[in-house]
Amino acid sequence: MSDQDFFPPEMLLQVNKYLECFCLSQEKLLEISARLKNELIRGLEKETQDMMLATFVTATADGTEKGDFLTLDLGGTNFRVQHVHANEKKLEIKSEKKLSIPKEIMQQPGEKLFEYIVNCLGDFLDSSNLRGKTLPLGFTFSFPCKQEAIDKCFLIRWTKGFNCSGVEGKDVVKLLKEAVHKRGNYNIDSVAVVNDTVSTMLSCSHKDPKCVIGMIIGTGTNACYMEEMKNVKYLQGEDGQMCINTEWGGFGDHGSLDDIKTQFDELVNRESINPGVHIFEKMISGMYLGEIARLLLLKLMEDKLLFKGQTPDMLKKPGNFETKFLSEIEMPDKGLENTKKILTSLGLKCELVDIHVVRLVCETISTRSAHLCAAAIATVAERIRENRGLDRLETTVGVDGTLYKEHPNFKKRLQDKVEQLAPKCKITFLDSDGSSGKGAAMAAAVVSCSTPVI
Ligand code: GLC
Repeated sequence: MSDQDFFPPEMLLQVNKYLECFCLSQEKLLEISARLKNELIRGLEKETQDMMLATFVTATADGTEKGDFLTLDLGGTNFRVQHVHANEKKLEIKSEKKLSIPKEIMQQPGEKLFEYIVNCLGDFLDSSNLRGKTLPLGFTFSFPCKQEAIDKCFLIRWTKGFNCSGVEGKDVVKLLKEAVHKRGNYNIDSVAVVNDTVSTMLSCSHKDPKCVIGMIIGTGTNACYMEEMKNVKYLQGEDGQMCINTEWGGFGDHGSLDDIKTQFDELVNRESINPGVHIFEKMISGMYLGEIARLLLLKLMEDKLLFKGQTPDMLKKPGNFETKFLSEIEMPDKGLENTKKILTSLGLKCELVDIHVVRLVCETISTRSAHLCAAAIATVAERIRENRGLDRLETTVGVDGTLYKEHPNFKKRLQDKVEQLAPKCKITFLDSDGSSGKGAAMAAAVVSCSTPVI
């Protein structure tokens, strides 16, 4: 039985009135994919402000990376420091420290942020007995940046809740080095900066050479892929390839998603710290899905379609319906039980019908997210197929991100939809095993080794 079978017919009609606008037909998704394709092509023509960014990674991994590297990972819910050892056979994480970024640091002047990062790195060097060794550093910095080289990386703008003043427009490598210098009790060698999509692609291509796309579906969403250099019109040079950070989260910022934006997307966008930007991301990623669900639930309560019209204060507070609840609610076996627990913890008295409505709401929102990602990944895979002049492309997408990994149905919905949207591409999704550090270490190898390895 589906959730809808539990609703009285009149109620079903009214609930569906709100859910319909989240259900995107095959035709609509193909249309969205075609619009994204146009934006991708336009972005390669001349340097844009925020999408299709050159990363200065010009090949995927070839397994010859060697040495010891430090890696930093900033840009999701957690901040991570790792010591990675690479030899002919494998990449190995020797030690690791994971910290959550204090909320206040995310909105303080950039100096404080870099001081925090550098202090964490210093403590890590001590606890891993690495102080005194000057190691190359791979810095996964997951924000849109204009790169002029792998070690020259200017932040275009903050996303995902970060808003530290004085960093936009600046070279983050310079800011990092200045902070290390200020702390004064350790040194770092060369620095390579990569987006998280790029480090994911690199670490996955080390396992599977067919991997030429990296995708993140976590706090934010984005993808990178290997483009032919001759198509990157804003860079000089015709030969070889360049990894392009699409920053697809910013798709729709110029109106191309207006026809599918719901009133709830509008509200989420308006209440975010960066209204008007990263519209696609706000329909898809972990930072926003819980909030879309909360606003939709509130609307159903207002219309007395849920919880007999109770609207507890707890649900009125932004952020109180977390994206991880969607995963818990949609668990195949324990979903109903989990829903009840979650609703009770939010101060709601619920009946069985309420539980089914809530589950349907969550399913509808997370399905839209998976389908939009499918449309976007179909666009990127098709692009590669056309570039290579193939009738059929077999490729691998390296994936990371909590929403993708922890949601019980996301992967399947994404995979099924992408097969329908890009029938000429056989796409395998490869989990990155959370080791973006390995990819960052490979990028660090480029700047530190005399033989270019990626
Ligand atoms: C945001 C950032 C992007 C990053 C993505 C996933 O969209 O702008 O650079 O890759 O989040 O973390």
